[in-house]
Amino acid sequence: MSRLLQTGLNAGKEPVIKVVDGEGVYFILADGRRLIDGSNTGGPLGHKHPAMVEAMIKAASNPVINEGWFWAEREAAAEELIDIAFGEEKSWVGAVRFFISGSEANDLALTFSQALTGRTELATRERAFHGMTGLSRQMTVQPHWHGGLALQSGGSKAVPTQVPVRIIPGPVDAKYGVVSDNRTLAERMAGTEQALSAVAATIIDYTQGGTYYDPEYQDYVANAARKAGSLWIADEVVTGLGRSGRWFAFQGGETRPDIVTLGKCLAGGSAPAGAVVMSKEIVDNMKDKSWQTYSTFRAHPSAVAAIRAYLSVMKDGEIIRRVKTLEAKMQQGLVEIARRHPSVARVDGFGLHWTVELHGPDWRNWYADTTVSPIASRVASRAIEAGAIIGTSGEQTSLFLAPSFIITDSELDTLLAALDHGLAVADAEFERGAA
Ligand SMILES: Cc1ncc(COP(=O)(O)O)c(C=O)c1O
Repeated sequence: MSRLLQTGLNAGKEPVIKVVDGEGVYFILADGRRLIDGSNTGGPLGHKHPAMVEAMIKAASNPVINEGWFWAEREAAAEELIDIAFGEEKSWVGAVRFFISGSEANDLALTFSQALTGRTELATRERAFHGMTGLSRQMTVQPHWHGGLALQSGGSKAVPTQVPVRIIPGPVDAKYGVVSDNRTLAERMAGTEQALSAVAATIIDYTQGGTYYDPEYQDYVANAARKAGSLWIADEVVTGLGRSGRWFAFQGGETRPDIVTLGKCLAGGSAPAGAVVMSKEIVDNMKDKSWQTYSTFRAHPSAVAAIRAYLSVMKDGEIIRRVKTLEAKMQQGLVEIARRHPSVARVDGFGLHWTVELHGPDWRNWYADTTVSPIASRVASRAIEAGAIIGTSGEQTSLFLAPSFIITDSELDTLLAALDHGLAVADAEFERGAA
C-alpha cells in the first residue's frame, strides 16, 4: 500500500491510472498506453512544450532568492504580465504580487480585502470552488470539497468556519438541456445588495460546478458589490490567460474587478504559481500602506522563468484565437453527443472548459462519503478505453473537459469520441432508473 496520501480528481475507488510521462496533449501510462489528457486546467501548453522546457533548463542556473529581496527577473515578469496579458486593460491595471498557487492567491486577496475594508464577512456564488487553503477553502462551497474528512461509512468531519460566508445565487445557463429557473436575472438576484452590505469581498469564478456565465451576471454582481461597499475579486485561476478564449473571462462584461486572482495557466504548467493583480484604484489606495505578507518560495526563480516563458509563447495571441476556434467545435461536438445520450442533463462551457452534467442525484447532497464509485467516475473510467482521461472534479454526476490549447482537431475528435463511449454506462443506469 502506498504511503502517499492520495487525492483523486475522480471520486471513488476506480483503478488508479499510472502516469509515467507526458508528451504534447498525451499522458503516457506505465503499460505504454498514450491517453489524451482531457481535463488538465494547469497544463495549457500540454506536456514538454519546447519553449517551456528550454526556459526551465535555464532557470536551474538562477540564484536561490526569496520574495524579500529585489530581483530584476521578478520585476520583469510583473511588467510582462501587465503589458502582455493586461495589454487591453491599461487604464485598469495597477500592480501584481506573485503567489505559489491559486488557493494562496485567493486566500491572500480575501484577507487583503478584509484589512482594506475593515469588514469580516465574505461572499461567493452558489457551487463555487476557490481553493483549499485558509479563506479560499471557506469560499469553496461545493459540499464535497469542505477540506475536512469524509467518512467512508457516511458523514463527514468538517473544519470549523472562520468567517461568515454569504452565498449569492449563481447564474443558470446551458448550451444544451433545460434550465428549470425561468425568472429574470433581477428576480433571481433580488436581495443581493442587501446580502453584501457587510461583506469585505465578493469573489466570483467563471467555471466551477459547471457554472459559466454571461456578462449580465458579472455586471449585476459587480454593480451590487460596488453599491454595497464590497470589493469584487474576479477569480480567474481557471479562466485567466487563455482558457476562456480571451485573456480574461471578465473582459466579456462591461465592469472591471477590483482584484483579479490567477494561477493554473500562469506558469504554463511548468511551475507552481499564482498572482493577485490589483486595479489602479486599489494601488492608489495603497500609497501610504504596505501589505505585510511574505512567503519564502513566492515568485521562486523557477516560477518566474516559467511565467515569462508562457507569456512569450502566448504574446502574439495566436493560441488564444485557436482556443476561440475550438470553442465552437467543442460546443457543436458536445451538443451532438448530448442529443444521443439520454443520461445527459446539461452541457455548458466556453473556450476550452466544458461541463457535461448527468441526470442523477442533486449535487447539493454529494459529500463523497462513500467508497462506491459515482456515475461520473464510471463514465470517465470507460472513456479511458477509448483513449482519453476525463476529470470529474470529485463530483458525483458531472464531468469536465479542459484539454490543453495545443490540441489538434483530430485529437479533440478522439477526446469527444471517448466521452461518447464512456456515456454508455450512464445511459444504462439512466434507463434502469426510468424502467
Ligand atoms: C476557480 C478556482 N479558483 C482557485 C482554485 C485553486 O487553485 P489551486 O488548485 O492552484 O490552489 C481552483 C482550483 O481548481 C479553481 O478552480
